[in-house]
Amino acid sequence: MAKRGYLYECQACGQKYPKWEGRCTSCNEWNTIVEIKEEKWSSTKPIHSDQVSKLSDIGVSDTPRTLSGSKEMDRVLGGGLVKGASVLIGGEPGIGKSTLLLEFADRISLIKGQKVLYVTGEESLEQIKIRAGRLGIDNNELLLASDTSLSRVMSTIESIKPTLVIIDSIQAVYDEELSSPMGSFSQLRQTVSSVVEYCKPRDISSFLIGHVTKDGMIAGPKLIEHMVDAVIYFEGEENINYRILRTIKNRFGPSNELGIFEMSSEGLKDVDNPSSFFISERSSGRLCCRWYHKWEQTTSYRSTVFALYFVSWDAKKNSCWL
Ligand SMILES: Nc1ncnc2c1ncn2[C@@H]1O[C@H](COP(=O)(O)OP(=O)(O)O)[C@@H](O)[C@H]1O
Ligand SMILES: [Mg+2]
Ligand SMILES: [Zn+2]
Repeated sequence: MAKRGYLYECQACGQKYPKWEGRCTSCNEWNTIVEIKEEKWSSTKPIHSDQVSKLSDIGVSDTPRTLSGSKEMDRVLGGGLVKGASVLIGGEPGIGKSTLLLEFADRISLIKGQKVLYVTGEESLEQIKIRAGRLGIDNNELLLASDTSLSRVMSTIESIKPTLVIIDSIQAVYDEELSSPMGSFSQLRQTVSSVVEYCKPRDISSFLIGHVTKDGMIAGPKLIEHMVDAVIYFEGEENINYRILRTIKNRFGPSNELGIFEMSSEGLKDVDNPSSFFISERSSGRLCCRWYHKWEQTTSYRSTVFALYFVSWDAKKNSCWL
C-alpha cells in the first residue's frame, strides 16, 4: 500500500495508482509510474457558502482587452490580451515560440499600466538580449529573469507584481520539492497550477510556453490543457517561412482562430492578407496539407481541410475559420 499522504502516478499520461506498478495500464508505458506527494497535486479545497451567488445577482462586465498591436496575435487571443487569463502556447522546438513571445512582451510592456515579466528557464539573459537585438527590440520597460526554480520564479512574480508574466518554458521550470524529474507530468502540473492559481486572482495574465515533441505527440502540454483558459499552438514547416498560430481552446473567444506570420531574421511579421497567402499557395497545396498532418497526426482529413480553409475565410471580419 502507498504510505499515508502518498500515491503513485504515471509520468507519461497522469493516471494515478494506489500502489507502484511496473507498467501503466492506461498508456502501456513501462517504468513511468512514480510516487508523488498527495498534497502536491490535490487542489480540492472546501467551498464556503459565501462563495455561492444567486444567478440573478451576478453582474456581467465586458472582458477588458489589451491590444498588443499584432493583429494576428490579438485575433487569435479572441480580441487581445485578457486580464488574468492563462494561455498555454505549444509548439515544436525551434518553431519561434520565444521569438513570438518576446515580441509580444515588448509590445505589451510599452503600453501604459502594463508591466511585463519574461522568465526564461532555457536561456541566459544574454541570449535573450542577443535575440532582442536581432529583433530590433530596445526596451527599458521589459523585465527579464533567468531561473529554473519554481519557488524562486513564484517569489519573483510576487515581488515584481507584473500585469503579464511569460514562462519560457514550463518544461524548464521545476519544483525542487517534488521527487519527479524536470519535465515530468507532476512537474508540469505543479508549475502550471502554481503560476495560474497565483496569477488569476491577482489579475496577472500568464503565458506558458510548452514544447511539443517532434513526432507530433503533444506529450506534456496536452495533459495540462484543461488547467488554462486558452491553448494555442504555433506551427509551421522547416524551410518555409510562414507560421500559423492556432487556437485549440479559448474561454475568452472563438476556439478556432488562425493567425498567420512570416518568420524572418528580424522576427515575426503579421501576414496582413491571409486570404491571398492561402490562394497563392493553392497551386501547390503543400503548406496546408502538411501542417494539418501535424496538427491532427492523421492524413485522413487532409482534403477536408483544404476545402474548409478556402471556403471559410471571411474577408469582411478579417478572420479565418477552420
Ligand atoms: N541568428 C538568427 N538569424 C535568423 N533567424 C534566426 C536566428 N536565430 C534564430 N532564428 C530563427 O528563429 C527560430 C527559433 O526561434 P525560437 O523563438 O528560439 O524558437 P523556440 O522558442 O520555439 O524554440 C529559428 O528556427 C530561426 O528561424
Ligand atoms: Mg525558445
Ligand atoms: Zn500512463
